Amino acid sequence: MRPFPKTPQQLVPPYKYSNSSFAIDRFPFPFKTPLHSQQPFKYSANIEPHHPGKADSATEFYLDIDEHYLTEILEKKRVLNQHKNHCLVLDHMKHAEWEWFEHVTRKLAQDYPHYFELEIAGDCGCWKNHLLDIEQEFTLGKDSLPSRPLAFLGGQVQGDFALLDQREHQLYLDAGIITGPSDWSLAFDIGMDFTEWHKPVPDAEPVFDRALNYLLGLQAGSPVRRLNWILCVYPRLDRSLESYPDWALDKQNLMPDRIGDDLFLRVELQVLDRLPKTRAIMFSIRTYFLSMNDLLLNPHRALAFYQTIKTLPKSICDYKGISPLQAMLVDWLEQKLEKRLEG
Ligand code: HEM
Repeated sequence: MRPFPKTPQQLVPPYKYSNSSFAIDRFPFPFKTPLHSQQPFKYSANIEPHHPGKADSATEFYLDIDEHYLTEILEKKRVLNQHKNHCLVLDHMKHAEWEWFEHVTRKLAQDYPHYFELEIAGDCGCWKNHLLDIEQEFTLGKDSLPSRPLAFLGGQVQGDFALLDQREHQLYLDAGIITGPSDWSLAFDIGMDFTEWHKPVPDAEPVFDRALNYLLGLQAGSPVRRLNWILCVYPRLDRSLESYPDWALDKQNLMPDRIGDDLFLRVELQVLDRLPKTRAIMFSIRTYFLSMNDLLLNPHRALAFYQTIKTLPKSICDYKGISPLQAMLVDWLEQKLEKRLEG
């Protein structure tokens, strides 16, 4: 049984963040285990149908609500208060925004009836969020919420959301609420197309061509998902370009004796779904952190991770910002895994 969200922790200094053993077990691990099936990591579309995963897993439901709910909702509030431009909607996306609102409220109420309720008749409805003690009536498509639909509902769901408009064989990032990006920014990317915003990613052009073609044919009601990963020092969700001075030096300051506690595998569970009426695509990003010490608790995962980092191609290491700490991390993992590697 998934535990009730715990009392808020903190995703900015002074950090206060921990995973329960339940959260560690269900962490969406992005590398193949066992070790012998491992090839050097390379970029791939790694898209699969978003079928319900096993009970209690991160993919059991359409969107994952877990023990970090209250922590992440507070953090979103903090970020949005500081940077209004982390929620942006171009004018032509207003219908898609309301369609997304209806779609996501329905999914949440269906998957988590103890946390969320939705009553809807025609265009009028009432949304209840028992976790935050919110009860809100609304009229779909009308200015009837305390803030715009992406900000109102996005502020009550873990993870970020982008809405993509499809025009002339391209997808455009024309709306979103992005409060916990990993080294990018909605205000910079808004209005860009799929090819443009992925330009900084090295050696992956053919992968992106294939992924774009696939997504252009995405059908409503057949969502897909993928995992993305990176390493970061401290469990800081907000690594936007706007807050760059607050986190840019984190990796440089990491000492070997702090790796276990302060270095985290940061994984994004991304879900893509077509909204049937406006044909916009919803892209959700749910972020999970796992400390190196917690990673070591599972030897299969630890070995697969070690093998990945050790053999990571230089271009990907540079892009992901791992190069300055790769050697130190490999040494650390070898020390910790020594007995197992010998065996
Ligand atoms: C359609 C919705 C998507 C959005 C809004 C999105 C957005 C982004 C952004 C903003 C970045 C950071 C680029 C930078 O360095 O500035 C990124 C990275 C990346 N994206 Fe996407 N993406 C989407 C879908 C996909 C799909 C379907 C794939 C599958 C190939 C993909 C693969 C990647 C990869 C491999 C990276 C590099 C990640 C890393 O190594 O840390 N993305 N994406």
